[in-house]
Amino acid sequence: MKKILIAEKVHKNIVNLFGSNDIAVDYLPEINRNELLNIISNYNVLIVRSAVKADAELIEHGNKLELIGRAGTGVDNINVDAASRKGIIVMNTPGGNTISAAEHTFSLLLSMCRHIPQANSSLRSGKWERKSFSGTELFGKTIGIIGLGKIGREVAIRANSFGMNLVGFDPVISEESAAELKIKLLSLEEIYPIADFISLHVPLTDETKNLLSKKTLDKCRKGVRIVNCARGGLINEADLLDALNDGHVAGVAIDVFENEPLIDFTLINHRNVIATPHLGASTDEAQEKIALQLGTQIVKWLEGKEIEGSVNAHLLNIYL
Ligand code: NAD
Ligand code: MLT
Repeated sequence: MKKILIAEKVHKNIVNLFGSNDIAVDYLPEINRNELLNIISNYNVLIVRSAVKADAELIEHGNKLELIGRAGTGVDNINVDAASRKGIIVMNTPGGNTISAAEHTFSLLLSMCRHIPQANSSLRSGKWERKSFSGTELFGKTIGIIGLGKIGREVAIRANSFGMNLVGFDPVISEESAAELKIKLLSLEEIYPIADFISLHVPLTDETKNLLSKKTLDKCRKGVRIVNCARGGLINEADLLDALNDGHVAGVAIDVFENEPLIDFTLINHRNVIATPHLGASTDEAQEKIALQLGTQIVKWLEGKEIEGSVNAHLLNIYL
């Protein structure tokens, strides 16, 4: 019988689903790296979110591994190449957390514009400061949405309802489908100087790493405000801090960081930065949906039915 290990906190309905299908599962959400390396060879399936690094070393130790399931979207914490070379299927749950991530993006955007976290802390500390927290409206402003996949599009729908002008970039979206969302497709070079707000919704890849760095931040208009609810590493954090310090960037709202959990708090302690600890998908609805989606995909795979949600089917075909 195949054995499944859940190595991060995933909604318990996945455990119940496996249980009702008589599938053995160990739920060890607090497991540390060394323990994981020691026991991974007992398992056929590993389920993670974004904290466990399913890197080449872990994959090498998992000599029975056949499938790595990502309860979420981004697979940048999984070495997909190393897995593919060993014939291991990597699957994620596209769409399960789209709405939550889009809503979190908008929460960050609005909170940044109206200094809500800073004003809340000030009030809680017994102060009644009104002058320091004057904000900025979204209405009539231009938002540059970089990455117009599932989340980028939901952000666009919400930006339209706030009366914003939308520009965007995504190499695979057609002008027609962008126009349906009232997004004007432009190149990055065209977006940077005109966007009042930039919101990132691309995966972290070799191409998108440091998408926003000194070179590109310099091209942005003075006073730009930036939201990153996609992935740490898309923005060079040291360059961003410099741009905040010299006033070129007026505000930043971030959910994701180069290093997670966060070790260096310098950036988030800047007065014009608001931040959350990777909470984009942390809602009851998203976690429930994702867990059921991944569980159902794995049950189907175990039953020998079609493989859904695989991100490396094309690589498996090459390597096997
Ligand atoms: P998606 O695959 O539906 O969309 C990603 C889009 O980015 C695609 O349309 C793709 O063409 C585009 N893209 C790729 N490279 C690009 C580039 N260089 N320039 C412009 N566009 C590019 O994915 P999604 O579900 O919308 O998720 C987007 C990102 O959000 C992922 O990185 C995901 O991990 C992250 N995410 C974060 C959270 C969170 O908790 N903060 C939650 C869910 C997803
Ligand atoms: C994702 O890519 O799905 C997000 O990072 C959400 C998560 O894993 O919590």
